[in-house]
Amino acid sequence: MPDCYILSDARLAPFAPPDGDGYASDGVIVVDHGKIGFVGSAGDLPARFEDAPRRSVGGCLITPGLIDCHTHMVYGGSRAREFEMRQTGASYEEIMNAGGGIFSTVEATRAASDEELLASALLRLDAMIADGVTTVEIKSGYGLDQDTELRILRTARALEDHRPIRIKTTFLGAHAYPKGMSADDYLNEVCLPAMAAAAHEDLVDAVDGFCESVAFTASQIERVFVAAHDLNLPVKIHAEQLSDQGGAELAARYSALSADHLEHLGDAGIAAMAEAKTVAVLLPGAFYALKETQKPPIQKLRDAGVPLALATDCNPGSSPMTSLRLIMNMGATLFGLTPEECLNAVTTIGAQALGLDDCGRLEVGQRADLAVWKFDDPAELSYRIGDAPLEMRIFGGEIC
Ligand code: NIG
Ligand code: FE
Repeated sequence: MPDCYILSDARLAPFAPPDGDGYASDGVIVVDHGKIGFVGSAGDLPARFEDAPRRSVGGCLITPGLIDCHTHMVYGGSRAREFEMRQTGASYEEIMNAGGGIFSTVEATRAASDEELLASALLRLDAMIADGVTTVEIKSGYGLDQDTELRILRTARALEDHRPIRIKTTFLGAHAYPKGMSADDYLNEVCLPAMAAAAHEDLVDAVDGFCESVAFTASQIERVFVAAHDLNLPVKIHAEQLSDQGGAELAARYSALSADHLEHLGDAGIAAMAEAKTVAVLLPGAFYALKETQKPPIQKLRDAGVPLALATDCNPGSSPMTSLRLIMNMGATLFGLTPEECLNAVTTIGAQALGLDDCGRLEVGQRADLAVWKFDDPAELSYRIGDAPLEMRIFGGEIC
C-alpha cells in the first residue's frame, strides 16, 4: 500500500463522533505513514488528504486491532492429561500440589529447544492474528530457572521477527517455586537474580507475580515489586483468583498497571485499585476452564470506576485458548459485560493494562493497527462464536 491511503465507507467503533453519540456510518480513516492521520465522517475529511488513494471497505466495521493483554503463550508440552483428570474430579490445586499443573509445564518447557518453543508459540500466535489481534502480552514463568525464564522471554520477543505483531514481555518468575526449595530461597537465589539478568538484557517490559495460597504470599510478592521498582519496571499481579490474599491492594500500592483474575476481590481491593487507576484484567477463560463459580465483583468495579480489560490468559493449564473474540463472548455471557464494554476491554483498556498510549483507540496520531470486520455492528464481535469474520488486518499501516 502507499504511505498514505484512505479506508472509506466504514462504521467505526469504539468511536463517538464529536457531534453525536452514535457510530459514524460514512466513516473514513486516513492511514498516514503507519499512523492514523484522520478519523471521522467522509464529509469532514481535511483537504490535504483528498487526493490520497481510497479503498472502500463496503460498510464494514473498523475497530482498533485487538489487544490481548495477558497471556502465557510461550511454553512446552500439553496438559490434556490433566484436563482429563479434572473431568473426573481432581481440582486445579490438588493437581498442582501433586507436582502437576504449572510444574508439569515447567518440565516440558525446560526440555523444549528454542526452535520448538518458537514453533509452538507461532501456531498460537497465528490463531490470534486471524482473530484481528495486533498486540500481545507474553509472560515468562514456566522456566523457574534463569536460563529457561530468559529463553521464554527471548522467544516471545523473537515472534516480532516472524509475524506482523507487537509483543510486550512480562517477567513472571514469581509464578511458582520448584519442589524441594522454599519460596524465599527461590526468590533470593533464582527469581530476583533472573529478573535483573532479564532486565539487563532488555527483555522485560513489566513484572508480574502470582499471589495465591498455592504460590506466593503478598509479602513475598512485595519483595518482587520492590526489586522491579529498583529496575524501573512497572508491575502487575495475578490476584484473588482462588482466594482473597490482599494482592490487588498490594499491587495498587505499587501503582500496578493491572491486577488480573480477581474472582475473590474484596471491597478494600476495589477501592485501592480505583484510587491507583489500576486496570482490572478479567480472565473468563480461566474461570470457565476451571469451572469456577465465584465471579469477579463486576458491578462494584464499575461503580468504583475501575477500568475493565479482558484477555485470553492463553496457557496450557487454566485457559488453553487463543480466541480473544471467544473471551469477549465469555465476558458478556459469564460476567455480564455489555458488548460495548467487551470491545473497550480488548482495545482501549487492554492498551492501558500494558501502559501503552499509542494504540487501542481510533484517534489521530495512534498507530494504524486496525481490524476490519465482515459486519457493521460492533455487538457482533461479542455475539458470534467461531467462524472467521476478519476481513482485513492492518499493522502499522500495512495490510497483513
Ligand atoms: O493465569 N494463575 C496462574 N497462572 C496461570 C495458570 C498457569 C497454569 O496453570 O499453567 C493463570 O491462570
Ligand atoms: Fe495468567
